[in-house]
Amino acid sequence: MLELLRRLWEVENLSPHGICLLWRPELIWTHVVSDSLIAFAYFSIPVGLAYFVSRRRDVAFGWMFWSFAVFITACGATHLMAIWTLWVPDYGLEAAVKLITGMASIGTAVALWVLMPKALTLPSPTQLRQANEALQARIAERDAALVALEAANAERARAEEALRQSQKMEAIGQLTGGVAHDFNNLLNVVLLNLDRVERGLPEASPLRTRLRDAVKGAERAATMTHKLLAFARRQPLSPVSTDVNAQIASFAEFLRGTIGPRIRLETDLAPNLPRVNIDPNQFESAILNLAVNARDAMPEGGTLTLATRPLPEGDGFAVEVSDTGIGMAPEVEARAFEPFFTTKPLGQGTGLGLSQVFGFAQQSGGSAAFVRSGRPGTTVRLTFPAKAPAVSRPAVRPVPATEPGLAPPLLPPVAVAG
Ligand SMILES: Nc1ncnc2c1ncn2[C@@H]1O[C@H](COP(=O)(O)OP(=O)(O)OP(=O)(O)O)[C@@H](O)[C@H]1O
Ligand SMILES: [Mg+2]
Repeated sequence: MLELLRRLWEVENLSPHGICLLWRPELIWTHVVSDSLIAFAYFSIPVGLAYFVSRRRDVAFGWMFWSFAVFITACGATHLMAIWTLWVPDYGLEAAVKLITGMASIGTAVALWVLMPKALTLPSPTQLRQANEALQARIAERDAALVALEAANAERARAEEALRQSQKMEAIGQLTGGVAHDFNNLLNVVLLNLDRVERGLPEASPLRTRLRDAVKGAERAATMTHKLLAFARRQPLSPVSTDVNAQIASFAEFLRGTIGPRIRLETDLAPNLPRVNIDPNQFESAILNLAVNARDAMPEGGTLTLATRPLPEGDGFAVEVSDTGIGMAPEVEARAFEPFFTTKPLGQGTGLGLSQVFGFAQQSGGSAAFVRSGRPGTTVRLTFPAKAPAVSRPAVRPVPATEPGLAPPLLPPVAVAG
């Protein structure tokens, strides 16, 4: 073996490769230039591969790049040896370099074929792009679902809040209605008996003045109970077929006097409004309540607008009372329809105006609500259906004649819807 190696390095009796080319310069230098270029290229490629692998450490099968680098460097060395042996017959060294190159080539080739099945399972750039697009579509879908979920949650929260509000109003209405109903009957007894006493008194009696004060107090209390009954949807209604536009137009004159000269009154009445069954007096009273609220909200003056709109499919009409006043804070708006809720100073507001309006609209089968228009001021919208609900028979629980301390009423008490 050693003898074989020793003989491999022997250069005696060997001629350089140039002799075979008869030292013809064109052959010699073409070989030199070509082998130099190939060697330069072969040495630069591994540098590029090494740079790539060191920068992209996540690249799959990175060791294969190193294997290629060794193999290509060895190839470059064989071309350098080809130049060297043109002049120096170091064919043993050249053989050794070729042997190393051969082993590196075989190792790389075997590794490449072993690796091939695994390499083929790697996703191609097109597959990666498609997967990326699918992923982005899923993300967009999920984002849209998230937005829809948030909207549904907000809607549910709104619906729950509306339900809570309507349950609260219902509960307050039942309590208020029950109390006002009985209280109204008792007040009637008081008023009737005061009337009896007054009629029995001599004209010059000094008790007459005190009696009149008592009657005035009882009448004011009766007015309040009627407002409460209106909120509780238990006031007697007398609906008749009404041309609402005509009624608003004639009522507007009266309203002008009520709201004063600093406030401009505008009407925006939709033509072809269907006639509806509505209690005209209570309707006017509701509009008056809203107009007075609007006036109070515009101390410096402004515009009060009464607008009517038909509901879709001839289903009744809506009336909107808008002002350009101070508007309502959300917490005021949330409670404004409650009886006795007022922001006005003591003695200036009972807080029963809007609750009356609310009760009347509901008792007529419609609704009362605030409209958020984004404009300054407040807009209250009342709707009334074309077909008014059947008017319930006023149910009255008269005070029993046997109730201790009370005389039976001479006249039937004021009837209220039960
Ligand atoms: N057009 C409006 N602009 C601003 N706030 C209003 C308007 N209408 C009602 N409000 C608010 O709602 C509250 C309740 O109104 P509501 O009519 O029930 O009672 P009130 O006007 O205070 O008293 P009352 O009508 O019994 O004299 C008012 O105190 C006010 O704060
Ligand atoms: Mg009011």
